[in-house]
Parts: sequence; C-alpha cells; structure tokens
Amino acid sequence: MPIKEKFFHIMTDNAMVGVYIIDKKLMWRYVNDALAAMLGYTPEEMLGMVGLDSVIHPDEIPQMVRNSQQRLSGEVPSAHYETRALHKSGHVVNIEIFANLINYKGQRALAGTVIDITARIAAEKQLHEQRQELEMLNRTLEQRVAEALAVSREKDQVVMQQSRFVAMGEMVAGIAHQWRQPLNMLGMSVQALQLAHTKGKLTDEIMERHSLKSLEVLKSMSHTIDDFRNFFRPENDPQCFRLDDVVERVVSFFNSNANGIAITTDVRSQSIVCGHMNELSQVVLCILNNARDALLERHVAGPIILVTVIRDNNMNLIKVSDNAGGIPEQVIGRIFDPFFSTKDALNGTGLGLYMVKSIVEKSMKGTVTVKNTATGAEFSILLPLH
Ligand SMILES: Nc1ncnc2c1ncn2[C@@H]1O[C@H](COP(=O)(O)OP(=O)(O)OP(=O)(O)O)[C@@H](O)[C@H]1O
Ligand SMILES: [Mg+2]
Repeated sequence: MPIKEKFFHIMTDNAMVGVYIIDKKLMWRYVNDALAAMLGYTPEEMLGMVGLDSVIHPDEIPQMVRNSQQRLSGEVPSAHYETRALHKSGHVVNIEIFANLINYKGQRALAGTVIDITARIAAEKQLHEQRQELEMLNRTLEQRVAEALAVSREKDQVVMQQSRFVAMGEMVAGIAHQWRQPLNMLGMSVQALQLAHTKGKLTDEIMERHSLKSLEVLKSMSHTIDDFRNFFRPENDPQCFRLDDVVERVVSFFNSNANGIAITTDVRSQSIVCGHMNELSQVVLCILNNARDALLERHVAGPIILVTVIRDNNMNLIKVSDNAGGIPEQVIGRIFDPFFSTKDALNGTGLGLYMVKSIVEKSMKGTVTVKNTATGAEFSILLPLH
C-alpha cells in the first residue's frame, strides 16, 4: 500500500468521526468504523449495500442525491449540511456532513466526514419546546396577572366603598351618642315650659332662661355635627401636619365616647408627617375602638389604653397598647384581612383594620404591625419622617 494511502487509513480507521468515500454511482467505496458503528453496521456490511437507501431517511434521499450530483458535477465542490440517517435498528440518527469532491482512483468521487448530532438536535428541540412553553406561560401569566389585578381592584373598590359606609355608620353612631344628653335636656326644657304655661306661671324670666339654655344646647349639638363631619371628611390634597395634634384630636374625640376607659398619652416627639390628617385620625381611632371593644367585652378591671408617639430609627412611631389580654395567636395573623372579625355582625364588619393597613401602607407609605405584650395587644404604626 502506498505511504499516502497507508497514512489515510491510519487516520480514518481510527478517527472519532465517521469518514466515507462514495463514487459517482453513489456506492460506498470506503466507510470507517466510526461511521459504521454510528449506524449500527460493520464497515463490510455497509460496503456491500447498494446505494444509500438503507442508511438515509427516505424523506432526505432526493435532497441528498441532488447535493451529491451537484458536487460530482463540480457545480458545488464542497458542502456542509445536516440530514437524517437511519440506524440499522430503525431509529433516526441526526448527522452533520462535511463533504468534498475528490479524485478517487482516477474517478470523481465524494469524500466526507460525518458527526452524530442526535443528542444536540434533541437538546435543541427540547430547548425550543421549553422556550415556547415558557413564552406561552409568560403570555398567559401576563393575562392572568392582569385578570387577578382587575378582580382585586374591583374587590378593593367594593371594600373601600363598604369601609366608607362603616366610617359613615361610626359618624352617625357617634353623633347619636353625643346627642342623647342634649336631646334629653331640650325635651325637659320644652316640658318645663309647657308645665309653666299650663299652670299660668310662664314668666318672661322663665321663658328667657329656657330659651337661652336651649339655644346653647342647640349650638353645642351643631358643633358636634361639625366635629364629626370634619373628622370623617375625605380630604383631597395631602398636607403636612403635626403628629401630636392628630393624637390629641383623636384622644379627645375618643374620650367623648370612651365608656370609662382611661387613655394615657405619652408624646415624646413633635414630628411633622404628610398625608391626610383625617385618614390618619381614623386609623388611630379605629385601633382605639378595637382596644375599647376588647376591654369592655372582657370586663377588664382597671382598663388602660396607652398611646405613645416617639421617633424610632428615623421613623415616626405611634404605638397603641392596651391591657385587654391580647389577640389569640390563632387569629393574630388574619386581623388585617378584609371582613375578618371575631365580633357578631352587629358589632363588627371586620373592615376596621383592613382600612388601617390600606391607609397606612398605600396612602402614607408606612407600615402597621401588631404583637401581644404581657398584658394585651400592641399596635405599631411606623411613618416616614417628613
Ligand atoms: N386590641 C385588640 N385586642 C384584642 N383583639 C383585637 C384588638 N384589636 C383587634 N382585635 C381583633 O381583630 C379583629 C379585627 O378587627 P377589625 O377592626 O378589623 O374588625 P372589627 O373590630 O371586628 O370590626 P369593625 O370593622 O367594625 O372594626 C377583631 O374582631 C378582634 O378580634
Ligand atoms: Mg374594629
């Protein structure tokens, strides 16, 4: 064997990639071990084959023949392409071919190398499928998020609407409470006038005294309406206000209906915060009302509510604590949920703390948390410094 041919054989017989030579009739002239093994044959078995039919996928044969003819005719001397071969056992082997026109024993022939790319193609296919799946998930995710957002927005609106009713209900209940005594006084005054008149004892002095007193009472009733209206009036533009003013305002408002519960305030910081004063007032009032409800419901002897205002780590901290025994551990994680209440339908809507959280977080960019102390519940509202 000439040196050149010997060298060729050493190189190709031991090559890791498939190597072949086919003649112009597309008959195998040389097949190395690697190529034969790739397709499940021995080189001898392949050399005995007539044409490419049994090792190339039927759908690829026309293209393969066309390619080979182009190269054999010299039209396209070399080519690099991917195609599908058939393994002896019948399964498809994806291959990549680099083929050249050569002169083999004085005849035009094709020599080429073959790489098995089945694993790569399978990985690419899998990647493609996964990408498509991911894209589809992304698309539907966006849609699902949009749908969920729309539902939650709608729910939020309903809840907000209802909490406005709650605030209105609280306003009416507060006014009713405040008016009970002056209404009694007015009633008694009218009765006294009637009596004096019936007895013929209605003097100018009596008339004057009762009129003045009644007008005074009416004025204070009218004040009560203004107070409540101011307290619950929605404000449009955010404003900056003093935190101690809010606490003082809420505490005096609360004291008018405190049922004998003492509030202690400990205001150690006179910070300014920005937002809606009425909203923050309602937040604090709501927490105070809950404390009062718990203290009354549990008949706590010596009920105390403590409101502290301090500056904590560059934040304003309003702390409201009570001695009503705290919130049961099994419900403490749900008290800020809308409609969560341990009270009966008449006494609680379960929207109070939901409103608190939503005002503090959305409107004031703060946080509100709760924990149980040794004696009761402690709510902490952290608000950013102005
Ligand atoms: N200081 C507290 N001590 C004990 N439990 C409390 C306290 N504050 C709140 N809770 C619990 O949290 C629940 C939820 O309070 P939230 O203010 O949201 O609703 P509610 O007071 O039940 O009804 P409403 O909407 O009328 O205020 C209460 O029902 C109560 O069980
Ligand atoms: Mg409440």
